Parts: sequence; C-alpha cells; structure tokens
Amino acid sequence: MDYTQIREEIKERLDIVQYISNYVNLTKKGNNFSGICPFHAENTPSFTVSPQKNMFHCFGCGVGGDIFTFTMKMDGINYFDAINKLAKQAGIHVDISETNKTKNSQYTEILNIQRTAMDFFINNLKNTSNALEYLKKRGLDDNTIERFGVGYAVEHWDMLYKHIRTKGYTQSAISGCGLFAAKQHGFYDTFRSRITFPIFNTHSEPIAFGGRLTGEGSPKYLNSPETAVFKKKNVLYGLNMAKDTIFKANYIIIVEGYMDTLMCHQYGITNAVAPLGTALTDSHVQIIKRYTKNLVVIFDGDRAGINAAKRALAIIYAHGLEAKVLSLPTGDDPDSFLRKNGLNKFLELLNQSLDFIDFMLQIAGKTTENIEAIYTIINNISDKILKSKLTTTLAERAGISESIIRENVKKPTKYGKIATMPKSWTGPSEEEYLLMLSLNYPECFKQIKINLSLDEFDNPLVKKSFNKLYENSLPSFDALSDYLSETELACLTAHINNPLINPAIDDDELAKTVSDCINKIKRKRVELELRKKIQSTTDEKILCGYVEELMTKKRQMLKG
Ligand code: CTP
Ligand code: MN
Repeated sequence: MDYTQIREEIKERLDIVQYISNYVNLTKKGNNFSGICPFHAENTPSFTVSPQKNMFHCFGCGVGGDIFTFTMKMDGINYFDAINKLAKQAGIHVDISETNKTKNSQYTEILNIQRTAMDFFINNLKNTSNALEYLKKRGLDDNTIERFGVGYAVEHWDMLYKHIRTKGYTQSAISGCGLFAAKQHGFYDTFRSRITFPIFNTHSEPIAFGGRLTGEGSPKYLNSPETAVFKKKNVLYGLNMAKDTIFKANYIIIVEGYMDTLMCHQYGITNAVAPLGTALTDSHVQIIKRYTKNLVVIFDGDRAGINAAKRALAIIYAHGLEAKVLSLPTGDDPDSFLRKNGLNKFLELLNQSLDFIDFMLQIAGKTTENIEAIYTIINNISDKILKSKLTTTLAERAGISESIIRENVKKPTKYGKIATMPKSWTGPSEEEYLLMLSLNYPECFKQIKINLSLDEFDNPLVKKSFNKLYENSLPSFDALSDYLSETELACLTAHINNPLINPAIDDDELAKTVSDCINKIKRKRVELELRKKIQSTTDEKILCGYVEELMTKKRQMLKG
C-alpha cells in the first residue's frame, strides 16, 4: 500500500508545532519554535521546529525530520505504527488490516489489548462489592476511580484471557501483551484478585497495569512486565493527568506510589506523578524536562528516605533541573498524610519544602560526607549559571569560603569531556565542528567570527551557514533554519551528529578547542595553496622551496 497520500493528508491536518508541544516545551523564536531537545541531554535549547517547513531538527544531536520521524523516535515505534497513530489523531481512517498486519501492527494490537483489558477490569469492579469496599476504605472517591480507570481483576485463572480471545487478536500479540503467562495447559491471567491501576502513556492510552492485593499477601503490588509498548523507566504514573498542571504551575511533584498519586490528585494536587516502584532515573528526568525544570520530591523523613532523596537530587541536578525536598513525618506517605491531616497541612509542608542545599545541610546533616556529596552534585552540573548560583548559596549557608568551594567543584565529571580534538578524528571536519560549537555554545561565536573569514571555509554548506550566521553578532538557529533548504538542513544535522561530540565543555576547554580548530583550518588552507603552487610550478628551485615549506607545515600540524 502506498502511504504517500495518507502521509500528506496527515501532515496537512496535524500542526507539527502543536503535536511536538505535547512532548517538548516550545517557545516561539522568530518564525520557529525552540526547546530542549528530547533526544539528548542539554541545557540550552538547540531543538527547533519550523512550522513553515513542517519539520524539526536539533543542532545539538543532529536528529531531524518530519512529524513521522518525530513520532517514531519519540514513541520508539516503526513507520507503520507512526502512520496509524498520527492518522488516528488526524481523524483519518486507515484500515489497519491493510497495513502489514504481522509485525507492524503488533504495537497497535497490544495497545488495543490494554484498552480492552482496562474496560474489562473496570466492569469487573462494578460487580465486585468487596473490591469497591476496599477502595472506599482507602478513601478513593468515585470520580478518582473513574478518571484513573481503576478496576479489578477477579480471583480466577483466565477470565481476562478468555475474554481477550473472543476479540480476534493475533496469538503473538496476546503472548506479548504482558497480561498473560504461559503454563503447561495454556495461558493464565497475570493479574488476579487485584485492584488494577492502568498505567497510561502521555496520550492517556493504557500501556500496562499495576495491581494491588486487597488483602494480605505477597507481592503487595505487581506491575505488567515490559512489552513492546511498555518500558518501565520511561513512564511516570499519572503524568497524562498531571502534564497540564505541571506546565501551568511550572513544577512537578514526585511521590512514591500509585495510592499517593491518586490521593494527591483527589485532593487537588494535580501535578503529582510517581515512578513505578523504582527510584527516579535519568529517563524520568529527561521526560520531566519536557514539561518543567522544577521538581518537588517527597520522601519519608527516615534514613532510607533521606538517602533516596540524595540519590534523586544527584540525578536531577546532573540534568540541570532543580529540586526541593518535602520530608514527611516518619511513617507517613502523601496518601496517609493527606487523609489524616488534610490539604492545608499538606500545603504548609509544601511551602516549607527545602531547597537542595538546605535539605543537605539541615536534614541530611552538615557532615564531611554530606559536604562531599554536595560538591559531587554541584560538580556534575553542566549548566554554568546554576552551578555558580549553587556555589554561592552553599558558601553563604554553610559558611565555607566561595573560593574553597570553587576549588572543589571545578571539573564536570558526569559528562565526558573533549578537552582537545581527538587525535584520530573521524567525526565531522573542523569546520563542521565549529559550526556545531557555535550553535551550542554561542559564547564561542565571536572568537570564530573574528578569526575566520568566510573564504577560509572549504565546505560549501558550512560556508553558506556561516555566511548567514556572520550577519548577526550572535548565532541564531532561527535565521539559519529559515535560510537553508530542507535538504541542506538534513545534511547539516546528519553531519554534525557524532557521538564523540558531547555538549558539555568547560569555558577554558571551549576557547582552546575553538582555537585548535581555527588553526587547523588555516593550516589546511595554506597546505592546499602550497599544493596548488607545487602542481603548477616548473622551476625546480622554487618547487623545492614549496615542498620544504609544505613539509614544515605538515610537521607543525602533527604537533598541534
Ligand atoms: N511497589 C511495587 N511492588 C511492591 C511494593 C511496592 O512495585 N511489592 C511499588 C508500587 O508502585 C507502590 C510503590 O512501590 O505504589 C510504593 O510502595 P509502598 O510504599 O509499599 O506502598 P504504597 O504506595 O504506600 O501502597 P499502599 O498505600 O497501598 O500500601
Ligand atoms: Mn501508602
């Protein structure tokens, strides 16, 4: 089947800016929109969406393309599933039976199974009085139960399995959906005798389940295993419901469990989310970054809670985000606290939540070990402004002289650094590298502009780009992406995308790297000119002189 027409229709109907805004916090910049790239760790926005061109690209990591490319990358799905998904959103009917039904639609099929299962569980709950009683006892009201799709899996080996079998799904989707386990005599349901909490993606599609026993027993909670549609580390429970508030309030609250999330939302704290029984991970923070840079993490006030908070802070700050810590009285979680003390008491605690430095000094304690831990965290921050701000705060609050702190937090350790150009450089050329640097580190632009004139660039595309950039005193993605054609942009982003490049370079290193590149470009040019002269010279003596000069240049180049 040819998708060209459908693709075009989808592109026409869906606004790429609006669509990407579901994932990335975009701000208007001239004709384009820019934001923090969701595909690599960065602190200054290099991710640009162009509504005119109907495409996106990131000058930091090199990804780029149209709305389909974006969806495939973002959701980790294939081309066909991306078309299906976007067609649905655009209100265009695509007959799934026509699209490669085997592999390509399995993702969609597994999604459909989750939806069917959710409806089934919700229906069960309505008919199971003791499950309803349990939820009532836990203080969940009907509205919360409904909005979060809470349901019940009955005490039966294969109720869901039998139900799903009647719906005509392929066996491979049924085996791969995470809701059934194989046994000698067939399949049985993963979730039995459990309250079911559907886990949604940010589009409010159920992708997995959590299940809680209503009585004693083990394990208390069970989660779906990972499937084609469910990757645990990429999911925050409640984010689909919380994302609007997170945007508006510009902060997110991280709690620990399902019940905590539900209760927060029930009490009107609708920016609360929870990881799924794991500590906060890098991927979580990457996701959060699309919505806000400010977090409040809630922890139990005991030792384990304090240590968990310290770990979370390290990850959060390494990504250039900021966090406050709300410590609850020992033994309480947000669920129990809210139910016992009500919203106002909770808001009081929220107001008193401590910023990173205060939490470390006051709660974790002003021990040598903790000061070291603070150094490590500050050390890891690549955002220079944030780093400097925290250094000053630490000096004030801990009474340590700022110079001592600066001495201790000098080097970024988390992200690898490229102090000099690697010896065996197989990545982008120096010219391309400079272009990438100037787009990622505007502070080095002037150095390049002063030292390299346009005719010193060899690569036509790089020359064309700098030609545009040089018009202004600061490099602008915007100007560039308007100026270059789609193909040129694609070439550019493809070329400057190199894993060796890591957008975390120190001030000093940056200037040095830039001057190294400039020198190499200049020397290469001299070499090129010498070679041309050598080609066209017939006079033996002059030729020898040129060759000698060329050798000297080459030796210098090897040294540099
Ligand atoms: N969890 C899990 N598996 C378990 C226990 C816990 O995956 N066996 C996860 C769940 O996501 C749970 C979170 O860890 O929500 C926090 O666990 P815990 O504090 O033990 O439970 P609560 O969320 O407080 O649940 P409840 O109030 O229902 O006891
Ligand atoms: Mn609890």
